Amino acid sequence: MPPDTPALPVPPAPRRAFGPYRVCFVCLGNICRSPMADVLLRAELAEAGLAELVEVDSAGTGDWHVGGPMDRRARAELGRHGYDGSAHRSRQFQPSWFADRDLVLAMDRANLADLREMAPDAEAGGPRLLLFRSFDPALAGDDPYDGQVPDPYGGPPDDYAAAFGLVQAAVRGLAGQLAGLLEAPAAPARGDDPLEPPEGAGPEGIPLRGAPPRQRLGGR
Ligand code: 4NP
Repeated sequence: MPPDTPALPVPPAPRRAFGPYRVCFVCLGNICRSPMADVLLRAELAEAGLAELVEVDSAGTGDWHVGGPMDRRARAELGRHGYDGSAHRSRQFQPSWFADRDLVLAMDRANLADLREMAPDAEAGGPRLLLFRSFDPALAGDDPYDGQVPDPYGGPPDDYAAAFGLVQAAVRGLAGQLAGLLEAPAAPARGDDPLEPPEGAGPEGIPLRGAPPRQRLGGR
């Protein structure tokens, strides 16, 4: 790990004592980046045996694509890597969701600023609302994308491939952090001596009318 790479954030403790941990990915249209992250994190958690412990969803700050499928190019990129994005339908993030998501992860700084605008004060600067790529173990101070997943919408296939790679790296880091949080050692069974360790133990094309211009982020 490069010396200027900060430690990964520790996901905050769950809001509720029971039920799954809830993670929501947020981008602008909810048809490219955040659905990719949604599909990839579900797959990673399933592989780690953590699917039941974490509920994953995604949304956009904009409403242009609500009810529609994933961008065909994003879906194709997922397909190239063996993932299926066909079930996705776009949704718009609602401010009320802050109260029941444990972690809300923004794809870029504009998404983060929009989310902070709609968040209750206590959430806006808190540990439950973060830039998604803060979970990328390879994220360095000189990152060409300034810690963001750049918006690939309407760009060439390479932009979708780049977005996939960035999303995949951060999903892997996030899954590891969630595992660390949620796979805590079980409480001792009744009758066990808590002080005595068990034997053997060591301690989707054309921009729609009304849509904002595409964001061009650095590095392309
Ligand atoms: P996403 O990409 O935020 O990664 O889903 C976009 C999709 C649609 C638009 C912008 C970005 N749009 O302006 O319609």
